[in-house]
Amino acid sequence: MNIEAPSSAHGDVAFRSYRPSDLTVCGRIAKEAFPYGRGSERENSSKWTMEGYIESSLLYSTWSEVACVGDEVVGFLFGRIEKTWKGRNRFRPLITELAMTARFLLRDPLMLARSLGLMWNVWITEAKLAEHRPESDAEIELLIVDSRHRGKGIGKQLVDRFLGAAKNAGARVATLYTEDLQSNYRFYESYGFKRVATFYDDVTSYFAGKPSTAIIYALDLKRSEAPERPR
Ligand SMILES: CC(C)(COP(=O)(O)OP(=O)(O)OC[C@H]1O[C@@H](n2cnc3c(N)ncnc32)[C@H](O)[C@@H]1OP(=O)(O)O)[C@@H](O)C(=O)NCCC(=O)NCCS
Repeated sequence: MNIEAPSSAHGDVAFRSYRPSDLTVCGRIAKEAFPYGRGSERENSSKWTMEGYIESSLLYSTWSEVACVGDEVVGFLFGRIEKTWKGRNRFRPLITELAMTARFLLRDPLMLARSLGLMWNVWITEAKLAEHRPESDAEIELLIVDSRHRGKGIGKQLVDRFLGAAKNAGARVATLYTEDLQSNYRFYESYGFKRVATFYDDVTSYFAGKPSTAIIYALDLKRSEAPERPR
């Protein structure tokens, strides 16, 4: 069961749980933040890829929250708190992900060859992640703030709120995986996350068409000053 993110407002920014109707705007924000393959892909394929990526992140998340200015969604964080993951059918994400892949291919059968290459690189990256990721009980899956609203503290508040919920649930270590090409990974360093592993990132390199390094970060929640409760 997903944790219900408490709705609250902070300054001009309000926070609430993600709704399925947010998919289009979150896809647009993600596509702008990670414009892989721009120019080489058809507009719709790129849109579906990003929306598929978001749906797939949601499958592995127990926390999905959006930040809003007025009615507009301007950022989001999806994450997993293992303490609240118990009881979830571990096969469900796999089945749903296969169904999503089938749906994606039916939309655009010409993507089949490309998708096989993508899947191969996703599996290799998953295997490397399993090898390098330290034991943790909270994971940030996806964090993006609309470029027009960056530098206003929204990203930090989204992370504070997630880590506050993780701490409340008894989590001790939070981790995340990111890459060095498109992500503003130094944000996590200024937050206090420590770099614990790096390796060749097959899936990002495949998308970007140039070599990329995967970075795994970890934060000791027992020591961090993340708030005990979401504001
Ligand atoms: C990373 C991201 C979520 C940060 O969101 P944001 O709302 O602009 O960040 P904030 O305004 O809350 O910044 C909080 C702090 O982090 C620092 N920070 C933000 N971006 C930074 C960057 N690129 N490098 C170094 N520090 C950064 C800010 O200076 C601020 O420090 P302060 O508290 O000392 O003033 C946003 O840049 C983004 O969406 N980037 C594209 C997607 C991405 O990279 N996601 C994360 C990796 S997958």
